Formats: sequence, structure tokens, C-alpha cells
Amino acid sequence: MFLVFPDSDAIARHLSARLVELIRNDPQAVLGLATGGTMEPIYARFVQQAKDSKLDVSRVSSFNLDEYVGLSAVHPQSYNHYMHQHLFNHLAFDEARLRLPDGLSVELEQHCQDYSDAIAAHGGVALQLLGVGTNGHIGFNEPGTPFDSRTHVVALSERTRVDNSRFFDSMDQVPASAITMGIHDILSAREIVLVVTGEHKARTMLNYQNGGITEALPFTALKRHANVHILLDEAAASLLDDQACRRVVQPTCA
Ligand code: F6R
Repeated sequence: MFLVFPDSDAIARHLSARLVELIRNDPQAVLGLATGGTMEPIYARFVQQAKDSKLDVSRVSSFNLDEYVGLSAVHPQSYNHYMHQHLFNHLAFDEARLRLPDGLSVELEQHCQDYSDAIAAHGGVALQLLGVGTNGHIGFNEPGTPFDSRTHVVALSERTRVDNSRFFDSMDQVPASAITMGIHDILSAREIVLVVTGEHKARTMLNYQNGGITEALPFTALKRHANVHILLDEAAASLLDDQACRRVVQPTCA
């Protein structure tokens, strides 16, 4: 069942209320976090709701999905910078508990293994936030990535580099590779929330609805997980069967 909201702000209100509730029930919650345009309104709402409700986030831990290889943590296009800009800098998080892959790591293979091991040591994250690329990627797991993959280095597809070039001054500045949690790591989350917004993702969602489970469309791996919620705006849901959609007219509001 797809949960369809009027727009991305309605999704953001619903999801940030869910995050506030999760952290209130478990102040030491371990979150799996994503970057990208889809997440920006969600983090903005969460920051607002967390402040309004005086939520204590000082013991929350997090693992981010991915990071570009070759960009330092403070590079304006790094995902580390993105997370500080949109979330971490606005609330009293404990920096030591916030983890992203290190794009400048020299021992990349060991670093990837340590990252997966750290996620496993926490028993997987409590809730994994996900966006999806137009080619079905989750994290930077491009089409063809094995579903049993752990954190690894990936060469970015041309499609993904073009999609992400909007955040860079020019196409040649978009890194050629990234570190990403593997699909196995993602599926180890106890709950997964996939957020899909925009008309440009409508066909991707149609392929998800109509297709089977295939490594050619990495996010179909989510069909193997028992606790996945897919939240869409009307534009992203526009090609889906009505019977497969539940419309959320009055989202939970904090
Ligand atoms: C980001 C990530 C990516 C994005 C996806 C969608 O950490 O892992 O998989 O979720 O590329 O990006 P947007 O939201 O910009 O459309």
C-alpha cells in the first residue's frame, strides 16, 4: 500500500511527527539518514517540531547512507556538509554519535567494512529514511548492485551524475565515485520509510508497482522487507493504481 499525501510539506509534517515520537519513546534511537532534495523539507519540519516540543536529541545516533569519494566533510557539496546544514547544526546532537562514510578515507575497503560492522553492532538502525533515484537507486546502490551488498565504493552511473549535477557548478565537478551502505545494510533496518516526490519519479514508481524484485531496479529489494512505508506526493503517485494508494488527507500534525 502506498501512502499518498497532497504535497511534500504534508509528508514532511507526517514524517517529522513520527521521528519525534520515535525519539521520545527511545531517546537513544539509532537513525539511518539520507540526503538529497527529497529530505530537505523533512529535516526542516523535524527541526521545527523538535524545537517546539523541546525534544532531547543528545543521545540519538545516526548512520548516513552515503558520501562522495574525494570530498572532505566540510566541502559544500559533501553529504556531511549537507547534514550539518539541514539538520545537525540546528539541534543539540552529540557529534560523536553522528556517522557518515569518510570520503577522504585512505583505507577505503577497511573503512567500508568498519561502517557495516558498526551498523550491525547496533543491530541495524531503528528507522531508515530513504529517497530513490530515477533509476531506482537507494543510497548509491545503482542498478545491478547485489542485494547482499554491504558498504562499498561505487562508480556513479552517468544518469546519477547528471541527476546530481544540479548541486554542483558544472558536470565535471560531480565526483565519479561514492561510498554507500549496501542493500543488505539498508534492509537490516527495523523500519524503512521511503519518500518519493515529484512527477519525474512517477514512472520509477510505476515500474516498482508493476515489476517483480530485481537487481535492475535496486529499490525493489524493499519488497523483501516486512516493515516498509512508502510515502508519495500526488505527482509521484500519478501513474499508480488507485486501489494500491491510500490517500492521507489530514496528516498527523505536531
Ligand atoms: C542520498 C541518497 C540518494 C537519494 C536519491 C534521491 O543520501 O542516498 O539515494 O535519496 O538520489 O535524491 P533526491 O531526493 O535529490 O531526488
